[in-house]
Amino acid sequence: MTNARDLNYSLHHLCIYDDKPRDNMFPYLRWHHGITNFFSGAVFHVTDEGHSDYTFMGCGGRAYQIQIEAPPFQFEYERNWWRDHGRGYNHVCWVTSDARASMDHLLANGATEVMPFEEFPTYDGFVVHDPEGRWIEIMEYTDENFRVQEFTHAPSGECGLEIIGNAEICGDVDAMVEWYERVMDLRVLEVFEEGDDKVVVMSDRDYDPVARRSLFILQNAREDFEKVHMAKHGPYISSIIYQAKDVDRAWEDALWAGMTEVRAPTTDPLTGLRVAYLAEPCGGNVIMLTEHYAPAAQLAAAA
Ligand SMILES: [Fe+2]
Repeated sequence: MTNARDLNYSLHHLCIYDDKPRDNMFPYLRWHHGITNFFSGAVFHVTDEGHSDYTFMGCGGRAYQIQIEAPPFQFEYERNWWRDHGRGYNHVCWVTSDARASMDHLLANGATEVMPFEEFPTYDGFVVHDPEGRWIEIMEYTDENFRVQEFTHAPSGECGLEIIGNAEICGDVDAMVEWYERVMDLRVLEVFEEGDDKVVVMSDRDYDPVARRSLFILQNAREDFEKVHMAKHGPYISSIIYQAKDVDRAWEDALWAGMTEVRAPTTDPLTGLRVAYLAEPCGGNVIMLTEHYAPAAQLAAAA
């Protein structure tokens, strides 16, 4: 049996389903993002079922990205998700060194199949549900040259904005932390807990507190807007996480760019961080904007 550590998982992107990507990418571009790649037609992800339309964007950091995926979706399972959930955060993607072994390992450890393993021209990949039903995409690059481009680490704009990862609302936070540690080789960087609230900050093996701070946060539904979404959709990918050196300036920039207010900057009583929440343009999905936050690497080693 393959060990998760042998599969070299690296957090890669969060995918947003949206039917107006050409309009809705502009608030991102105005908010200090850049396009790392745009793929359409017979590029990147070719199937007999249709075309692709993917816009990858990054902001200030290496290497976590967002991907806007637009209809008509290629696969029936994607069209079904679009029908049921609409303009939402659809999946988080990891890159692995062995997609075939990864699929076997995930299915043997509580994941369930969404998209069967497939060999595309540029990568091998598949999609599964995690044990609470959120989608996990796995990619193994197989082309000698093809990669989704990355930005170098360079906080963007005067506010020093960086995209650093995503958060997920869990039904059982402890069970999901254990699962992502054991099956996806994530490690815990920091735990915030008080009463019924728990926020667990995790990352992958490539984590670096300065140059590559891809974060993956598992938490319970704490805010009203999280409880409402959870009641309707179940456990879900809840937010893209950004950090800024000047969170108030990043907030002002976001409103100017076309993001809308969910909750103005305030100190989170659980984490002590100055945090704001915004709705992004592809359907009002939530963005978490936090002050500069980079747990130390030695915490990862100690966990
Ligand atoms: Fe994806």
